[in-house]
Amino acid sequence: MNVLFICLGNICRSPIAEEVFRQKVKAAGREADFAHIDSAGMIDCHEGELADDRMRRHAFDRGYRLTHRSRPMTMADFEHFDLILAMDSDNIDRLRRKAGNHPQWMRKVQLLSDYLTKFPEYQRIPDPYYGCADDFRLVIDLCEDACEQLLSALPTPDSRQSIPQ
Ligand code: 4NP
Repeated sequence: MNVLFICLGNICRSPIAEEVFRQKVKAAGREADFAHIDSAGMIDCHEGELADDRMRRHAFDRGYRLTHRSRPMTMADFEHFDLILAMDSDNIDRLRRKAGNHPQWMRKVQLLSDYLTKFPEYQRIPDPYYGCADDFRLVIDLCEDACEQLLSALPTPDSRQSIPQ
């Protein structure tokens, strides 16, 4: 299965979501279930850049090394990825416009915040770009909560086979 995390600039939220999910997959010993875990942005203003310095610093403090370089989402991503996790409704609107006359692509799109369990009051992963240190820490807290639940919601290939027809 291929999983893509989407935010606006691909320098704050989706790079940490990608890395949190990758570490949870590794900790669960489920690397074989996920061929590609990646992130991308809806704009190309930061293309080629490492994640925002503030996000990299806060991520490092929590044990995550962010090496991803920002890239804009492409039409090929809609085909390649099985699940596309957006951070907020603005991301979803942009994805819908991009999907254009391929409504089947939107069936792959979900909000990452729909998987929150410890923070059910959040209906989005809030953009920290113009925020303070606490806003960056909150993004990491939310990503850890949602990615934990996301991983357990994605069946292993074995359990898929065992679902009675
Ligand atoms: P992100 O944060 O979508 O979480 O990467 C932002 C990054 C850049 C901008 C906005 C949000 N920007 O306006 O450049």
